[in-house]
Amino acid sequence: MSADDQKRISGEAAAQLVESGMIVGLGTGSTAAWFVKALAARGLTGIKGVPTSEATAALATELGIPLLDLNDAPEIDLTVDGADEIGPGLSLIKGGGAALLREKLVWEASKRCVVIADAAKKVETLGKFALPIEVVAFGHLSTSRRICDALSECDIGMPPRLRLKDGAPVKTDGGNLIYDVACGRIEDPSALAAALKSVTGVVEHGLFLDLAEEALLGTDNGIVRLQP
Ligand code: A5P
Repeated sequence: MSADDQKRISGEAAAQLVESGMIVGLGTGSTAAWFVKALAARGLTGIKGVPTSEATAALATELGIPLLDLNDAPEIDLTVDGADEIGPGLSLIKGGGAALLREKLVWEASKRCVVIADAAKKVETLGKFALPIEVVAFGHLSTSRRICDALSECDIGMPPRLRLKDGAPVKTDGGNLIYDVACGRIEDPSALAAALKSVTGVVEHGLFLDLAEEALLGTDNGIVRLQP
């Protein structure tokens, strides 16, 4: 089974978790897109989606899923989203699609978060996938130097690299920039998360810890359910 087929079956399995009338957080990325398509195909009544990016909002609108602003959805029943890496205890790296800030805002407003992914996303230790860090554009080079200091505190010697597309800095939906850090191995994700949060100018990082309640992993043998 291709990675895309694994993503598709995990998205389809997650769509079965949604019930009529639910407010649903809609993730971002290729796996989340399969979920949004499968959810729309179910034709449930009364559901509303809270999108985690402009791209997902556009897809959901195209497929006829009514949307709700996060401000108007104090409690989200269920959020389903992809991940770049799934580590021990369902610790995650997210943000490969530059939507980590809105994703985390929606996840944290949710009663239940389910992560969906192809089998290759499961890892023994987080860090092979470069960790995305969203920073304010103003003074971002200065911020990146202080991110270096925070990384050093966690024994990570790799520098943050500004994410570029076609030679220009990638801008998030919120107008911020993304730095990626090829950490290699993140031995203590909680310590790293705290160190990065302490840097003024860092808006959010892509470590999602203690947020996912379940993972639905698409594998060649079907869906494998993982719990923290
Ligand atoms: C978006 O910013 C990310 O967090 C995605 O959820 C993550 O990159 C997974 O993307 P794919 O489902 O496309 O692999």
